[in-house]
Amino acid sequence: MSKKISIERVLHSQGFGSRKACRILVRHDAVTVNGEPCDDPFAEFHTENLHFTVDGEPWQYREQAYLMLNKPAHYECSHKTIHHPSVYSLLPHALVERDVQCIGRLDEDTTGLILLSDDGHFIHRLSSPKWKVPKIYEVYCKHPVDEAQIKNLLDGVQLIDEPAPIAALACEQVSSHILHMTLAEGKYHQVKRMVAANSNRVEGLKRIKIGEVTLPKDLADGEWRWLTAEELHLLTHTEKI
Ligand code: URA
Repeated sequence: MSKKISIERVLHSQGFGSRKACRILVRHDAVTVNGEPCDDPFAEFHTENLHFTVDGEPWQYREQAYLMLNKPAHYECSHKTIHHPSVYSLLPHALVERDVQCIGRLDEDTTGLILLSDDGHFIHRLSSPKWKVPKIYEVYCKHPVDEAQIKNLLDGVQLIDEPAPIAALACEQVSSHILHMTLAEGKYHQVKRMVAANSNRVEGLKRIKIGEVTLPKDLADGEWRWLTAEELHLLTHTEKI
């Protein structure tokens, strides 16, 4: 049986502000719990399967937050952005307040799959170079791709400031100008630098898969959703390469 805690604490843990702010929300009839209005901030509920609404928005209690976002172009993966809005502005305020963080960054002009969480172990595991979680990118090249370029990417290319050549784990030609490239690392501008080192140029870049989790076709640009239990399992049970 899950623990029982007051709705004030529930709301606070889920990112709805200070305990005092959450108490005021409840007292001002902004909250329902499991389908019933709740105006007592100290009323206690089991956290398992706890559904509530705040100002009409439905939520489910989650001890930790694990989500995915389909990043649009011209958003920065940072809280303190320089030229463009932050990807965090695409999330509900409560999730930002919970301090969910991007797991690895994409360039401002790169689109596609980003995972976010407030679970430090999960973030560490997925971003640690030790685990080498593979990431697949759809790469739109300026010039036609040929077999020699693919061979070089698979054999390894020497990048400036790197001690040794870096190889793609896999590289599949999808059409004359499009590649699916799998990388184990997440170095700065890695795809763009590897393609440029090969006499070509990245004109568009989209991350389509992390570990065994694929960007869903029905997740529109700029949309986010919770990870499913199965996706979370896949991400936490990836073997080291
Ligand atoms: N490689 C890049 O060059 N840019 C990204 O955003 C991600 C990988």
